[in-house]
Amino acid sequence: MSGALKFPDNFLWGTATSPTQVEGHVANEWTDYIAADGGHCRVACNHYHRYAEDVEWMTQLGVNAYRMGIEWSRLQAAPFAPLNRPELERYVDLLDRLKAAGITPMVVLHHFSNPPWITSAGGWLNPATIPAFEDYVTKLVSALKERVYLWNTFNEPDTYASLTYLLGGFPPFHKWRLWSYRKTIRHMAAAHVRASDVIRQAGNGGRTPEIGIAKNWTFFGPFRKHAVWDHLLAGISHHAFNRFVLHEFLGGPRRAASTFLGVNYYGLTRFKNFEPMVPAGGANPERLAQLGVVCDDMFERHPGGLGTVLRNLHRQYGLPLYITEHGAASADEDFRILDLTEHLRELHGAVNSGVDVRGFFYWSLLDNFEWQFGYSKRFGLLEVDFNDENLPRKMTRVGEFYRGICRARAGAVAPEDSSVPVHRICIP
Ligand code: BGC
Repeated sequence: MSGALKFPDNFLWGTATSPTQVEGHVANEWTDYIAADGGHCRVACNHYHRYAEDVEWMTQLGVNAYRMGIEWSRLQAAPFAPLNRPELERYVDLLDRLKAAGITPMVVLHHFSNPPWITSAGGWLNPATIPAFEDYVTKLVSALKERVYLWNTFNEPDTYASLTYLLGGFPPFHKWRLWSYRKTIRHMAAAHVRASDVIRQAGNGGRTPEIGIAKNWTFFGPFRKHAVWDHLLAGISHHAFNRFVLHEFLGGPRRAASTFLGVNYYGLTRFKNFEPMVPAGGANPERLAQLGVVCDDMFERHPGGLGTVLRNLHRQYGLPLYITEHGAASADEDFRILDLTEHLRELHGAVNSGVDVRGFFYWSLLDNFEWQFGYSKRFGLLEVDFNDENLPRKMTRVGEFYRGICRARAGAVAPEDSSVPVHRICIP
């Protein structure tokens, strides 16, 4: 690849999905949920039946890593129950196919969904969820330890807890329950520590297991420099969603439970008179464009922030990092390609300046069920036609572009004039 940015030879170039968003046929709190566009997750991409084909697509993409979830609700029918054998075998087969394809799995243990018996007992507000999770992880890790060494316990605890208890976006759709938000984070952090002990004790035949969470990193700032109230809201958001969560998971002795930190990075939220200036928060995309706010279909883009957050988190916690998610949703593929290029340039800069980043996982392998928004946000390297009952997959231009990167094991050089401005934001 001409003009390529060199990355370390053992760097993981991957892609990612989550069970509720792609598998279909799940029985969890999302099964009966109807999204804003009328969509539901009952079939999704049918990855549940089509995973073998999807591994072949990954081979075509040239990725050498896949961040995949394992759905707890499939495997345990009741607290402390044995794991469901056929469901476990299905995941084992998926892992074996990945291995045969030379693709390293990173397994996510919790990605926004729970078994119904956890939900009906109060979810993560109930402290009894912690030992139940530990039991599940003990059984799962013992079954998969020879096949998996990269374990991602929790995906974005902050997103899960805030959308569930503060913002009313995820079932059970509560709002402004700050106490529940904090409690959920604390219980998840305690479960992370216990899961980490389990994973370490189990080991992994060949390699030392790696354990970490994936933290969603969003920068917060005011839209107008002098709007004190928006400064204040940005500061509060930064504290509640970034600092508090990192402190609970990585502060003091709890840091020893993690061997890496995953960073999911999508960008920036700026507030104007308390309103978040992002499409995901309800802002009108045309209006945002007029105001010069550069967004995909979800968030404001801020590629320059990626380097900043990687340097700061590395300095602060001294842990190896993975970009466990980055991607853009847009019908404009040129926009998505530019977005990826700019973020990889930032990532490269951070790696070159000595930040230990070990991999990048593009979100997502497939267009999929984007929670509250249904199927209207298209993040896939592969496009999925949800109007066709066969759910055909098709390579996108972004997928082709990423294939070039994965095959060369190198990022592409971005155009010099990055259009993204520097903002006043809260930094880690
Ligand atoms: C989540 C994914 C989601 C993506 C895009 C992340 O917050 O982990 O499940 O699809 O962002 O919104």
